[in-house]
Amino acid sequence: MGPTSIVQLSAMLQEEWRRIPVDILHKLVESMTDRMAAVIATRGSKMNNAILYSNHNSLQTAMARKVLSEYMDKLSWQPGDRILDVGCGNGNITVEELLPRVPGDFEVLAGMDISHTMLEFASSKYKHPKIKFIQADLAAEIPAESELRTPGFDKIFSSYCLNWIPDQRQAVRNIYNMLRPGGEAVLLISSWTPAYSAYEVQSKKSEWKQYLKDAYKFITPLQKSKDAAGDFYKILQDAGFEIINCYTEKVQHDYNTARCFKDSVKAYNPFIDKIPEDQQEDYMLDLLLEMTKIKHVETGNIDEKVTILRQEILVAYVKKYKKSH
Ligand SMILES: C[S@@+](CC[C@H](N)C(=O)[O-])C[C@H]1O[C@@H](n2cnc3c(N)ncnc32)[C@H](O)[C@@H]1O
Repeated sequence: MGPTSIVQLSAMLQEEWRRIPVDILHKLVESMTDRMAAVIATRGSKMNNAILYSNHNSLQTAMARKVLSEYMDKLSWQPGDRILDVGCGNGNITVEELLPRVPGDFEVLAGMDISHTMLEFASSKYKHPKIKFIQADLAAEIPAESELRTPGFDKIFSSYCLNWIPDQRQAVRNIYNMLRPGGEAVLLISSWTPAYSAYEVQSKKSEWKQYLKDAYKFITPLQKSKDAAGDFYKILQDAGFEIINCYTEKVQHDYNTARCFKDSVKAYNPFIDKIPEDQQEDYMLDLLLEMTKIKHVETGNIDEKVTILRQEILVAYVKKYKKSH
């Protein structure tokens, strides 16, 4: 006989759950976010991109952690500082990496991003009286009356966002304009990655070219530069910044398995949503193959071998002069 009350139903379900072996329960819990993403995807929401990114952003988290640990103590913190994370995405770096490293007497920590979905995810996951999320486009001029410019910010951090913007000068000008005089910024940019080279190869392949027509928009101009740090230094200088550091660094990130690597590459792939679902797996395998050919990826069987990714990051630490020069 079926349950006749909520209490009975709950008791029956609890009994059912008790029969499930613990290792199966662990697997179920581990795969819960992917399952939720699948459910949401079938309901036509883009939220699955935010969930996918949240589960597979170990590279970005590791690099942001590295840069934040190096620079947070170098900044001249003042009580009441206003802090901004540009291109905050799912809010993970803003809240879990930036927040614990800033002095507690700050006024506001804001995350800005172009993506409503990412911001929706961030603001429903992270509630904090001094944290807020703001939608804006770093690639277009941010108006002077925007809350991002008036009153502006004392500290700006940005990780893995500026590489999404073809017009680096506009992006840097915006960062300059959002900083108050005397303010400081620490920028982390993906300046070279095998993924960008592979996008270029794929954009010429007959099976993918229709989906990658605008691939060039998603490849940072720094990728082809012979001197990325020198070129970016010039952009920072032209915007009016005092430049304390601007350098590139070769970095390596290890993934437990090739599958983890594939999921991570998929999480930031800008073309995947345009590709029909039944071709997405082939597209991803082709992308991985092309990345491996570029020799900066070492991989093996999908669930076995650790996969190593080598890329280059650009780090810039800049100040806005107190008086304009
Ligand atoms: C790879 S995610 C990085 C997220 C987070 N900062 C991190 O390091 O994990 C790049 C983020 O940049 C945002 N983005 C891309 N173009 C942008 C633009 N023009 N203006 C503002 N945000 C942008 C994307 O929406 C995305 O959330």
